[in-house]
Amino acid sequence: MKIKRIGILTSGGDCGGLNAVVRAVTYRAIEKYGWEVFGIRDGTTGLMQRPLQYEKLTLKRFTGNLIRQGGTFLGTTSSGNPFRFKMENGKYEDKSQDIINGYKKLRLDAFIGIGGDGSMKILKKLSDQGGLNFVGIPKTIDNDVNSTEISVGYDTAVEVATSALDMLQPTAASHKRLMVLEVMGRDAGHIALNAGIAGGADIILIPEINYNLIKIAKHIKEIRQQGRNHALMVVAEAVKKEDGTKATVKHTGGQIRLGGIGSYLAHKISQLTDTETRVTVLGHVQRGSQPSSRDRLVGSAFGVHAVDMIANNKFNRIAVWQNRGVTDVSLHEIINKSRKVNPNGRLVRTARGLGIYLGD
Ligand code: F6P
Repeated sequence: MKIKRIGILTSGGDCGGLNAVVRAVTYRAIEKYGWEVFGIRDGTTGLMQRPLQYEKLTLKRFTGNLIRQGGTFLGTTSSGNPFRFKMENGKYEDKSQDIINGYKKLRLDAFIGIGGDGSMKILKKLSDQGGLNFVGIPKTIDNDVNSTEISVGYDTAVEVATSALDMLQPTAASHKRLMVLEVMGRDAGHIALNAGIAGGADIILIPEINYNLIKIAKHIKEIRQQGRNHALMVVAEAVKKEDGTKATVKHTGGQIRLGGIGSYLAHKISQLTDTETRVTVLGHVQRGSQPSSRDRLVGSAFGVHAVDMIANNKFNRIAVWQNRGVTDVSLHEIINKSRKVNPNGRLVRTARGLGIYLGD
């Protein structure tokens, strides 16, 4: 089919590198193919609203600082499932047809959605229902999208978590404390494991490997016996308490999010070891920071590739990073298949080789 107009949207939680992706899509589509590019506001919500909420993207839009900025200049939403959309009166409605109609009203020939597993599921369902031409690009700081070694935003989050450890070490040493750093990652421990190794942590707890508090206490005592009076511990937000439940926080609007396991564990460990502990919950700085060069690079490669996929009528697929380069796979390869840390993998082996306590 002849493509003339494409849309692009960012969906789910924001992260570093999204603006680089939108920039690359715009450049490739205009420079190589002469298409028109429309940036949809706030995920699929921009197509749901009337008047439609979008911005026609030009090369001039990207002459400024955008590639260097965190977040997404298009806006996004992580609570906008259109099949069960919360209305102002508190009731839920299926708004999927409004989005499909919005796509047609804007006369789009195809669209690119940048998102994680949850967003891809929704965008594929919408495309199937409306016969839309859809291509995906993986993004999530959690790096849990299947079939891709890297998702946009992950590298920036690891950088932020690593520099947090760099800043915690001097204060830990000054006060002879155990510093606990709680990082994001949802049900995957990629951020914790990678930042923990790079940032010289002594203990890394991830959801994929069970921990033992007595062994953690023993490890801290051994560190002391070896003459070091402080320690660093990284814990992924989805690590469970001893009773098997996850630590969560209820936010305004009733949204439940992971959070609090760092404080829970710090308290237990200080009781067992008589060590002074402090907790840092890193939170959204992992998402809003200036994107790393790698996220800008991978994001740019994904953007160019996704436009070429459209030009080649390769729909219902997602761009992925494999063997140091970009390729694409069917959306079936990633939907409902979260990529976790392999407990027997090379990085876990590396961490153990460094004497880091990782559980079990
Ligand atoms: O999926 C990305 C992520 O940042 C998770 O690591 C975290 O658990 C969650 O989103 C936080 O969501 P919110 O931005 O809604 O608080």
